[in-house]
Amino acid sequence: MLAELVCFEQKCRARFPITEAIHNCPNCGGLLEACLIGDRIQPEQWKKTWRERRASNQPLDQSGVWRYRELLPFDGQHHLAVSLREGNTPLLDAPRAAEYGGVDRLTFKHQGFNPTGSFKDNGMTCGVTQALRLGRKRVACVSTGNTSASMAAYASAAGLDSIVFIPHGEIAYGKLAQALEYGARTLQVEANFDQILALVRVLADSLGIYLLNSINPFRIEGQKSIIIEMLDQRDWNPPDWIVLPGGNLGNTSAFGKALRELHDFGFIRKMPRLAVIQAEGAAPFYEFMRTRGEFRPTPEPRTLATAIRIGDPVSWPKALHEVTASNGVVEKVSEQEIADAKAIIGRCGIGCEPASAATLAGLRKLTLTKTIRPDEDVVAVLTGNLLKDPDYIVHYHTGKLTDPSGKLLQARFGNQPVVVPNDADAIARVLDRATP
Ligand code: F0G
Repeated sequence: MLAELVCFEQKCRARFPITEAIHNCPNCGGLLEACLIGDRIQPEQWKKTWRERRASNQPLDQSGVWRYRELLPFDGQHHLAVSLREGNTPLLDAPRAAEYGGVDRLTFKHQGFNPTGSFKDNGMTCGVTQALRLGRKRVACVSTGNTSASMAAYASAAGLDSIVFIPHGEIAYGKLAQALEYGARTLQVEANFDQILALVRVLADSLGIYLLNSINPFRIEGQKSIIIEMLDQRDWNPPDWIVLPGGNLGNTSAFGKALRELHDFGFIRKMPRLAVIQAEGAAPFYEFMRTRGEFRPTPEPRTLATAIRIGDPVSWPKALHEVTASNGVVEKVSEQEIADAKAIIGRCGIGCEPASAATLAGLRKLTLTKTIRPDEDVVAVLTGNLLKDPDYIVHYHTGKLTDPSGKLLQARFGNQPVVVPNDADAIARVLDRATP
């Protein structure tokens, strides 16, 4: 569809052409969003077309993002699309996790099945395509790891130079390895995510670099497809709740925007409610929603779920709007709760990275407080792949995982590896003992 950039601030709402290379509103500094302009929306016809595209061998149709291109702001520009066949992520039933979370049935939408192993690919394919549309040669991002892995891959696929800025020593090894392997110039800055983002926003303008953090509205547009695809997979039956982790709150913004558009355009009749889960040590949005006072960043966010170790989430005004519009809730969970929920997701044969497990931990809390009823239909979005952070997993299962204050976490669902001699009888004895 045709689209324009619109300032998100209600008192400004300035409009700009979709090809204007701006990161924030030049008038008031507000966040920008891409607004679709279209009067020929045909929900039933488009649903049919999208379903037919699943059987197509055309690269764009095979992408779980570009398949839904009618709802993306790239009218007439699809030839530029940089795709690694992102999206196409499964909906997985998880009875054991449902029981743990206190609901009759729970489905995971697992974004860890993406090409670089996280939901960032859904957004990055659009962000990098917009960089090409603008004729930019260099892209950059600040990241807790997944954004940098994804941007590095898509930038290399597009032939662009990429620069990633990451907090020194604070990102999971799997993610650092990806940025290096995909060829990004990798700068490890001795500061936290929020400090580096402030620095890079200044640098990007002076050096003419195109920024691909989630303030970039085209990333948000791509991430809408997580919701569109999920509803397509459910034959357009919306769940009661969508549970997701909250860090910089880009995904919350994207999910809410997708739901509003699908509702307003007539694709769905009911709006699911959003449940955003933050880690206790990095929960400024939770605190803000609880008190409804001024938004106060957390100066020193701390959590082992490094993906969501963010104290000053840039997209909070959008997230506030979306959580309110969906009649949603925000919850926070402890390090122990995240670690245990993660092990349970593993025992379902599914697995995920720590930040993603905040969803199940949050669901458990929300059913205990009766915010979510056991018979409600819940989809939780697992944002990243299990292999992103193997150190965390091995430390948990071997009883060596300590929280950011140095306290040892309990391995409630631990699965210790056993050292055995090179001896068949001895191994048989160990197995007899170990078999439940
Ligand atoms: N889950 C994972 C696995 C993430 O990597 C992130 C964010 C989130 C959840 C939170 O999503 O920021 O949209 O609220 N990671 C970013 C990064 C910040 O740099 O990779 P959000």
